[in-house]
Amino acid sequence: MTELNGLSIAILGGTGDQGKGLARRFALAGHQVLIGSRSAQRAQEAADSIGAGAGGGENADVAARADIVIVAVPYEGHKALLESLRGELAGKIVIDCVNPLGFDKQGAYALPVEEGSAAQQAAAVLPDSRVVAAFHHVSAVVLMDPAVDKVDLDVLVLGDDREATDTVRALAEAIPGVRGVYGGRLRNAHQVEALTANIISVNRRYKAHAGLRITDI
Ligand SMILES: NC(=O)c1ccc[n+]([C@@H]2O[C@H](COP(=O)([O-])OP(=O)(O)OC[C@H]3O[C@@H](n4cnc5c(N)ncnc54)[C@H](OP(=O)(O)O)[C@@H]3O)[C@@H](O)[C@H]2O)c1
Repeated sequence: MTELNGLSIAILGGTGDQGKGLARRFALAGHQVLIGSRSAQRAQEAADSIGAGAGGGENADVAARADIVIVAVPYEGHKALLESLRGELAGKIVIDCVNPLGFDKQGAYALPVEEGSAAQQAAAVLPDSRVVAAFHHVSAVVLMDPAVDKVDLDVLVLGDDREATDTVRALAEAIPGVRGVYGGRLRNAHQVEALTANIISVNRRYKAHAGLRITDI
């Protein structure tokens, strides 16, 4: 498995549930984590709440400082944020976990994305970055729950750069209980993002925080 020693991880929108949850797990695993936000003060407060040496700063600042950058902002702000950080993110692994979903009385549903998926939108906006799609189905509630020692799910990792997807699989496995599984090329990210709507339906019906496991590998 790929070694992650010494790699720092920034999380854009790391003040939100998902970003903070991932940051907490990576910090607990001993990685240098940098929380990003539109506000340096909000970032620092989130970093302080995580502890374990986490730092904080404005999104552009942490994007420039980190080796690996996770995008954890709502789909509405995704494209504009990445367009503004093209320089800072050049040459880096950029992990997109954004699920373009709408919600109405019937629950969650997948939104159409012109580029095919949020991850492909990221790749289109960031031609000089190594975009990988991952962490779409991990529940932020579970990541933040101190009673959960092991997170029981596989993380599907998609991308067109083998070394980058191997690195992200290794990063996923820094979370105890998680297995990182290669899930195909970036052009197949749409259905992985959209599947989150089904998982949300499962969670609502069964009052759960469901995860996926891939069998026979
Ligand atoms: N929640 C989950 O369980 C979960 C699971 C898997 C994937 N995801 C995906 O992860 C992403 C984040 O989810 P979340 O629940 O953490 O969302 P969130 O709390 O609504 O937003 C995360 C952070 O994004 C920043 N933000 C909000 N609007 C923005 C905009 N227009 N432009 C730039 N930054 C903006 C905010 O930080 P500042 O105000 O500090 O800048 C906010 O704290 C979503 O795309 C979601 O689909 C979530």
